[in-house]
Amino acid sequence: MTELKNRKAIITGGGRGLGKATAIAFAKEGIDVAITGRNEAVLKETVSELKALGVNAIYAAFDVSNYEEVQKSIKSLIDTLGSIDILVNNAGIAAFGSLNDMEVNQWRQIIQTNVMGMYYVTKEVLPHLIAKNEGDIINVSSTAGLSGNATTSAYSASKFAVIGMSQSLMKEVRKNNIRVCTLTPSTIASDMSIDLGIAKKDSEDSVLQPEDFAELIVSGLKLPRRAMMANASLWSTNP
Ligand SMILES: NC(=O)c1ccc[n+]([C@@H]2O[C@H](COP(=O)([O-])OP(=O)(O)OC[C@H]3O[C@@H](n4cnc5c(N)ncnc54)[C@H](OP(=O)(O)O)[C@@H]3O)[C@@H](O)[C@H]2O)c1
Repeated sequence: MTELKNRKAIITGGGRGLGKATAIAFAKEGIDVAITGRNEAVLKETVSELKALGVNAIYAAFDVSNYEEVQKSIKSLIDTLGSIDILVNNAGIAAFGSLNDMEVNQWRQIIQTNVMGMYYVTKEVLPHLIAKNEGDIINVSSTAGLSGNATTSAYSASKFAVIGMSQSLMKEVRKNNIRVCTLTPSTIASDMSIDLGIAKKDSEDSVLQPEDFAELIVSGLKLPRRAMMANASLWSTNP
């Protein structure tokens, strides 16, 4: 089993939702965590919770869809952490609406955040992992990236793109001892799914919880380094 204690991770969108649950699960494993997002107050609060678990935790507030901000912030986070072992590309946005009804700007922003944002962050972290000849990248797609549905054209297009980018990268950097994992979870209770009306608060028994997602990521990371969880779908037992 791979020992995770004292590893260093960056989790985009780590202040709340699935990213926060992952940050907490990492901290419980003794991983130092850098979380990112746009809302500084939320990031500060989550950093306090992470520190209380006994790890080094830091944050950077920036927009993943802005390459200049990504370059500056990722460099600063890695400088402060001292090194980097794990990247979780989790930040994302979703909105549903028919192709004609959705504003061009909103369609573009979903692609810019979910696809370009993931590409920008990965581009800044990857050279560090290649230089160490070791690392893990977890890219969060969705079941919406496996099949399209009415009103999900922008979100599905972005999550299909994530799968293509992530699987290509996996084949590119296996030789560098870098494991790339593409996750395609179904609905998980979070601000995103509750705001979209596809999950309800207080539905722990039937709907996937952020902790379930975090546990899957930790299990994948714990595999011996010769083994890689290349793709994983997480579904609830009872729809
Ligand atoms: N929940 C689900 O049912 C579900 C299912 C499958 C896949 N996913 C995917 O899982 C990931 C996490 O989703 P979630 O449910 O946890 O959503 P969420 O509760 O809405 O959280 C989204 C996170 O992404 C960050 N973020 C969004 N846009 C950003 C930007 N432009 N720059 C920087 N950070 C940004 C947010 O931080 P700030 O608000 O501070 O910027 C927040 O931390 C997303 O990629 C989502 O598509 C979710």
